[in-house]
Amino acid sequence: MGPEDGRVIIVSNRLPVSTSVLGDGWIVLQRSSGGLVNGLEEVHQSGRSLWMGCLAGQTGSSKLKVADSDLADLKEQGLRIVDVPPDLYESYYEGFSNGAIWPLFHYMPDRCHFSPSEWEAYEQVNQLFADAIISEVQDNDIVWVQDYQLMLLPNMLRRMKRDLSIGFFLHIPFPSADMFRVLPWRNEILSGVLGSDLVGFHTLEYMRHFSNSTARVLGLEPHMDSLNYGERLVRMGAFPLGIDVKAMHSEARLPETEEQIEALDANYKGKKVILGVDRLDYTKGIPPRLEAFSALLEKHPDLVGKVSFIQVSVPSRVKVDEYRDLKAEVDGLVGMINGRFGAPGYVPIHYLFQTLTRDHLLALYRRADVAVVTPIRDGLNLVCKEYVASKGEDPGALVLSEFAGSAAEMGEAILVNPWSPDSMAAGMHKALSMSDEKKSQMMSDLWDRLALHDNRAWSTGFLDTLAETRRRNTLSVDVQTLDPDPGELVDRLSNARHAHFFIDYDGTLVAVAEKPELATPTPEVIELLKDMAGIQNFRISVVSGRDRRFLEEFLPHDVTLIAEHGACIRRAGDQECEHMVDDSHFKDLWDNVLRVMTDFEKRIPGSRIERKEFGVVWHYRMAEPIFAQEQARELADALGGLLQRTPLGVTTAKKAVEVRHIGINKGEAVRFILQEDGFDPKADMLITMGDDRTDEDMFKVYTKDNVSIAVSDTPMSSAAYMIDQPHVLPLLEALTRSAKGWQYKLWDLQAS
Ligand code: UDP
Ligand code: G6P
Repeated sequence: MGPEDGRVIIVSNRLPVSTSVLGDGWIVLQRSSGGLVNGLEEVHQSGRSLWMGCLAGQTGSSKLKVADSDLADLKEQGLRIVDVPPDLYESYYEGFSNGAIWPLFHYMPDRCHFSPSEWEAYEQVNQLFADAIISEVQDNDIVWVQDYQLMLLPNMLRRMKRDLSIGFFLHIPFPSADMFRVLPWRNEILSGVLGSDLVGFHTLEYMRHFSNSTARVLGLEPHMDSLNYGERLVRMGAFPLGIDVKAMHSEARLPETEEQIEALDANYKGKKVILGVDRLDYTKGIPPRLEAFSALLEKHPDLVGKVSFIQVSVPSRVKVDEYRDLKAEVDGLVGMINGRFGAPGYVPIHYLFQTLTRDHLLALYRRADVAVVTPIRDGLNLVCKEYVASKGEDPGALVLSEFAGSAAEMGEAILVNPWSPDSMAAGMHKALSMSDEKKSQMMSDLWDRLALHDNRAWSTGFLDTLAETRRRNTLSVDVQTLDPDPGELVDRLSNARHAHFFIDYDGTLVAVAEKPELATPTPEVIELLKDMAGIQNFRISVVSGRDRRFLEEFLPHDVTLIAEHGACIRRAGDQECEHMVDDSHFKDLWDNVLRVMTDFEKRIPGSRIERKEFGVVWHYRMAEPIFAQEQARELADALGGLLQRTPLGVTTAKKAVEVRHIGINKGEAVRFILQEDGFDPKADMLITMGDDRTDEDMFKVYTKDNVSIAVSDTPMSSAAYMIDQPHVLPLLEALTRSAKGWQYKLWDLQAS
């Protein structure tokens, strides 16, 4: 980050304060720690940061009462509460966040419940966050949004303040595209995240899944670690969260921790200790881990009486049914295993259902001979890193699940499959049998890597990449996109001599359909176009990449049709089309183009060639998106070579590779018509609307005097205004209605 950058506004569901509610409803606040908090503390302490979030415990039906002095303290510490009504919070937090996204992203669709009302609450709370942030944000501030509870927030912020620098970090796994597709609101969630300049994950695998999902769900065409979202570049990166290993190593050697270790030594004298520490969450694989321990004792009876398992389960999300059921399951399992293998003076599993004090936790890390971290899925997992940090070069052994994000950077650990009790029991046995020398070696190898990728490396790595991406985006986009204000447009229209409308067809007048032949105009569209064409000072053109035949068949005769990006223009009321290119000399060249494209059409199932009067297009909207995207690049390269120094050129559009005449584009067509019609920017009005990359050429005509409207749900264009596709017709209808009103007035005046 450079000196020109403003503050970092950290945004997370919870503020880094824990709360205890007193009997009378007042709450006591205390600074809390934990992985996400420790990682961000470094950034927050730098003094140039604000942290915004809810108060933990902001749940239940009654509002928490916070003393004024506590509020002042929070403010002093740079912490701002985002106030969410308790009932709404419950639907957002227990409901959508932890009842839909959490289980789905951890590959457990059977545990998901998808409720439209909880989705609405999720949207509303994200919007409350957006409003609170916008009221705090200053120029040059950077907003860093954390985690799955706030996935809509980046795009909400982008819509409200387009030039804001926004980063998003996901602390849980991003599932494979096939799993993600299950989510009923998958498009909204992806568009929400893509409002960011940079999207960070713990592993490259999650990044690849996200990138593939943008291709499969939104039809985007991502590159390795970036994608173009309209005019904006969205970067993606893997930044595994680290911990301050040195600080933790020292903390684990403070006198109060040593005292706790002595107490543990007395309790577990002569015994090996295996340790598990997790929030009580079904993703953490606690029951299978305990069963694997039971299998270990079964298979190796010599260990009975000599090995104790300490399982710490921190209470979590206790209002969600699945978490309550899990508690009962674990309680039962512990009782069963202890009943089976226990003896006077020997309890196989010591189960602690509580939040530990820091020194108690560190003492356990140091005393444990083996740490068993075997989640079924985990975004990262910090417990395994904390175990290594506490040990330093002391002997220790880590048994780690292949399905924890940390496994990607902790290959020296004993990696096990949490779905296989045998694999886990074998891992524990191997760990218990290792020599002290080997155990020290394992710890110090892991330590070195963790020291390199610590918490500071995580935050600076992310923020530096965000700043760099931001600089690139600022260079390419410097316009402020606004929602069009019908009132203001009506005002301008009423003062214009002529209003020239250039309206794109697919994705603007009609919604995009899976098969182009299905995207025919509705009766409302036809009615509207006729209405618009009937207004004296309106000039209406429909602009499309489609060929003349389709447009002529379906659109009214009284609007101008610009077909094939402008290669062919039929003026309103005319029978004949004017050809803007002479194609008669290039038959051989077109044959070669077709030969190359046909080869791709044959090889890529689902793709197809469209032959137009003045162009050929290879469409791959219905082909397997990731493979087809690669092939599209190859095809564009091959055609580019073939068409060098010819009047034909290759362009890539949405899910298509197209060959057409160089110099033919929608912008040139608009210029041509405006010139023919004697357009005068001082007297006339120009309105262009479109959703595709090819429409950007129209937006650039008379830039300053062009009411350019991008049809999109995210700012991604050089257009001055932005509108969702479903709002296109209502806007045009409103303008038309007003214009009809003036006409009547004009006629009344003339008549009187
Ligand atoms: N932890 C804690 N109190 C406890 C036990 C654990 O604060 O009694 C902390 C632990 O030190 C670690 C975090 O909880 O930093 C758990 O993070 P992890 O990434 O392992 O899992 P998460 O709970 O985020 O899914
Ligand atoms: C995971 C999530 C965090 C969350 C934490 C504790 O680490 O990624 O966003 O804060 O669990 O969960 P809780 O629901 O208690 O905040």
